[in-house]
Amino acid sequence: MVNQEDIFKKVISHAKEYGYVVQSSEIYDGLSAVYDYTQNGAELKKNIKEYWWKAMVQMHENIVGIDAAIFMHPTTWKASGHVDAFNDPLIDNKDSKKRYRADVLVEDYVARIEAKIDKEVQKASKRFGETFDKNQFLKTNPRVLGYQEKAESILKRLGRSLEAEDLADVKNLIEELEIACPVSGSKNWTDVKQFNLMFGTKLGASAENATDLYLRPETAQGIFVNFLNVQKSGRLKIPFGIAQIGKAFRNEIVARQFIFRMREFEQMEMQYFIKPGTQIEWYEKWKELRMKWHLSLGMGEENYRFHDHEKLAHYADAASDIEFRFPFGFKELEGIHSRTDFDLASHEKYSGKKLQYFDPELNQNYVPYVVETSIGVDRMFLAVFSNSLKEEELENGTTRIVLKIPAVLAPTKAAVLPLIKKDGLPEIAHKIIDDLKWDFNVIYDEKDAVGRRYRRQDAAGTPFCITVDHQTLEDETVTIRHRDSMEQMRIAVSAVNETIANEVAIKHWLKKME
Ligand code: GAP
Repeated sequence: MVNQEDIFKKVISHAKEYGYVVQSSEIYDGLSAVYDYTQNGAELKKNIKEYWWKAMVQMHENIVGIDAAIFMHPTTWKASGHVDAFNDPLIDNKDSKKRYRADVLVEDYVARIEAKIDKEVQKASKRFGETFDKNQFLKTNPRVLGYQEKAESILKRLGRSLEAEDLADVKNLIEELEIACPVSGSKNWTDVKQFNLMFGTKLGASAENATDLYLRPETAQGIFVNFLNVQKSGRLKIPFGIAQIGKAFRNEIVARQFIFRMREFEQMEMQYFIKPGTQIEWYEKWKELRMKWHLSLGMGEENYRFHDHEKLAHYADAASDIEFRFPFGFKELEGIHSRTDFDLASHEKYSGKKLQYFDPELNQNYVPYVVETSIGVDRMFLAVFSNSLKEEELENGTTRIVLKIPAVLAPTKAAVLPLIKKDGLPEIAHKIIDDLKWDFNVIYDEKDAVGRRYRRQDAAGTPFCITVDHQTLEDETVTIRHRDSMEQMRIAVSAVNETIANEVAIKHWLKKME
């Protein structure tokens, strides 16, 4: 049986081989947790951003988008709490000299308990067959209940200790659970210490006059400091949202799992400004809307779940993650946070400028509350890419590798293939490309037998292959082959554009949210 680690290794090597993602500065042996997107990866990333931007900005009359600078005045990060509180608890193993996030060590331990629950479920489902009731089993099986109770009590204690900054207790917990270093196998740990995740840099030509700056660790602050500029120039009325896509930087202690946790990454964030007291209503609404957005891509309802936070970030009064089933288990894909008036009130205090909204209905000024949705582009990329990579057994006993990226996000929408390189077929293929290229990313491929070309496009994630053959010369029809079903249909050359458009148009996919 193929294990999760092998599947993940295949994802990483496929991403490199088919022009999606490579390690940054690879010729110099790479840079840890920094990655480059190559030709297909850049397209997929762009399509993910467009799918988000359209759903967020274009589809909401009261949400607008901005593009703020990465560098911000250093006081921003004092006001936001990042200078004092944007820390991770780190712990070193004295034997391997490896550094870990103490909370991640404990969470990984809990994930192993959850894997045991999954195993019990699988065993029971095999034993009971069709009569198996999963919910009933989870609620009544003594062994499963024991595992659940253990997992919950560990997470509760971790949450409490982190909340109280009781780092000694986090270390006690690691020792009590007898967690060993994955590298050395030893339990010889240092004390747990806090580590600030922001990258520092300098602005200015000479060392004496330079100002210390930070690379932004989240895009959200560029929205908060511009709240009044946007509200006034757009004459926006509460509730309204400001959306942004941009780079963020974090000096992550544990950089692993490919593009899941990076030091330079991209976020798609939206801050929704609301009347104080309405935050729970909006928080629930945005949880629902964001889940619908994910489900519209058809990557399987069973692969998503909500996880409400035990430990809240310094700015939040409620927070939940949308978790996705990555090849290494369920992990955070997106966060939905009720941020209260923490940020705006704090920027008011530090800047001495009023950041209030005049509510014409109440005839009153107030600092709005904020509900935020925040998703990493790279994490979304990994969710799409890893979920799409399949190895399928075919009826004739062979296997095919296919990248079933939702057609709306696929980097290349169609490959146009002349059956052979003569008899005028390449010329017709080029003419078809000349028509399609105005609307879609398409490519021409004439090398190798057509069957091999189909396989190559399957593995690259291209949803359609258009084949020009001798019949095309007679009746101006081509075959269109669907990547996922491998079905082939004969259609008129004049119908190709519309056939592709019907399957890849953003509108068609986003309508599933309604
Ligand atoms: N403004 C709120 C905020 O930044 P967060 O939970 O720290 O909240 C939001 O980050 C999202 O950004 C995460 O759900 C994840 O998708 C992405 N993200 C965070 N750190 C990341 C990293 N080191 N590498 C890749 N994506 C990351």
